Amino acid sequence: MRRLPSDVVDDLVAVARRMRQRAYAPYSTFRVGAAVLAGGKVYRGANIENASYALSVCAEHTAVAAAVLAGHREIQAVAVVADNDDPTPPCGGCRQVLNEFGPQMLVVCEGAGGRRAEWVLSAILPHAFGPTDLLER
Ligand code: THU
Repeated sequence: MRRLPSDVVDDLVAVARRMRQRAYAPYSTFRVGAAVLAGGKVYRGANIENASYALSVCAEHTAVAAAVLAGHREIQAVAVVADNDDPTPPCGGCRQVLNEFGPQMLVVCEGAGGRRAEWVLSAILPHAFGPTDLLER
């Protein structure tokens, strides 16, 4: 993982924190904001739930979709801020979605209380199934 300047990481976390307010989470009431860094730009996401619960989408997933729709195929970092006091790490499904676009990306999570946790994605999704498993047959 290429180290990112701390102001870049701080800005990414600030966007994720703000995006929490855009969450649509009437069922869980657990709001999550996310921001991904791709090609020097920041793409935003928030969780969007559905009355048919299983169709709900996570904040990280919507942020990845925004970056991909803007033409990016590589993500350098993701920030996640949820309602919990402690930092909330991305769920297993989101780790898989993120892995597609950057196994070495920085994952930074901040709790509502301000405490941060950081990992390289590959450390929290070891032995991932990824693009090469299908494309290098
Ligand atoms: N959620 C996310 O947005 N990201 C995660 O990584 C974990 C869970 C959302 C999904 C659902 O809307 C709510 O949090 C409770 O699970």
